[in-house]
Amino acid sequence: MYFSKEDGIEETKHVFLEGNQIPSRWKLENQEVYRIGELGFGTGLNFFVSLELWMNLSNPPCVEFFTLEKFPLERTILLEMKESFPDLKTWEDELLQAYTLFLADPLDAVEGNRKLEWKVQHPMNQNTFTLHLFLGDVLDVLPKFQPPIDCYFLDGFAPKKNPEMWSEAVVLQLKAHAKSGTSFATFTAAGFVKRNLESAGFTVRKVSGFGKKREMLVGFLA
Ligand SMILES: C[S@@+](CC[C@H](N)C(=O)[O-])C[C@H]1O[C@@H](n2cnc3c(N)ncnc32)[C@H](O)[C@@H]1O
Repeated sequence: MYFSKEDGIEETKHVFLEGNQIPSRWKLENQEVYRIGELGFGTGLNFFVSLELWMNLSNPPCVEFFTLEKFPLERTILLEMKESFPDLKTWEDELLQAYTLFLADPLDAVEGNRKLEWKVQHPMNQNTFTLHLFLGDVLDVLPKFQPPIDCYFLDGFAPKKNPEMWSEAVVLQLKAHAKSGTSFATFTAAGFVKRNLESAGFTVRKVSGFGKKREMLVGFLA
């Protein structure tokens, strides 16, 4: 399942935004550009919820949102998602058209050489929020994220079913694009994910998960 109609927005806020302390960092930190790295774009829900938070702040930093996807969703699913969240601005016509054109283009021989770039202007200042969506397998396209990433949204499918999104090799790539203090948040508390993050040098904490999920992981690179 790609999104939960009932509480998908609240889950994104709890796990990824609060898990990375984004609301307070965007209000209090004096950083010009803030880079988010997401593993698993899916329907784009995390992107849209982050964008909404950003639009509602009076003076947030510029945001570069890097994300990747191996199995892009069809337009019909994105339209369903749009209908499921009528109060959130999601797949407006212009973006949907850009995404459809992007997917229709023949892929480059080398995976990840194409990306969809989409820029939104803040209503109250000159700052922008830019989506950079790469297509391809996580290990091929994660190296294309522009460092240093300030925070990660680790949002592959459940680690047991989708272990390649949580492997040691992936975590080493996360580290390679991070800096001291880079944070991460994820819905899972799986033991091997925690161990991989710790052995790469991340300090990891278990905190309360969303809804019925007892625990999730957050942390930062020491
Ligand atoms: C839980 S969903 C992501 C939900 C998404 N963040 C959202 O806001 O809608 C996990 C995503 O990871 C993608 N994925 C799974 N394995 C992958 C891989 N090896 N490389 C890249 N993407 C992968 C899936 O296709 C799926 O869209």
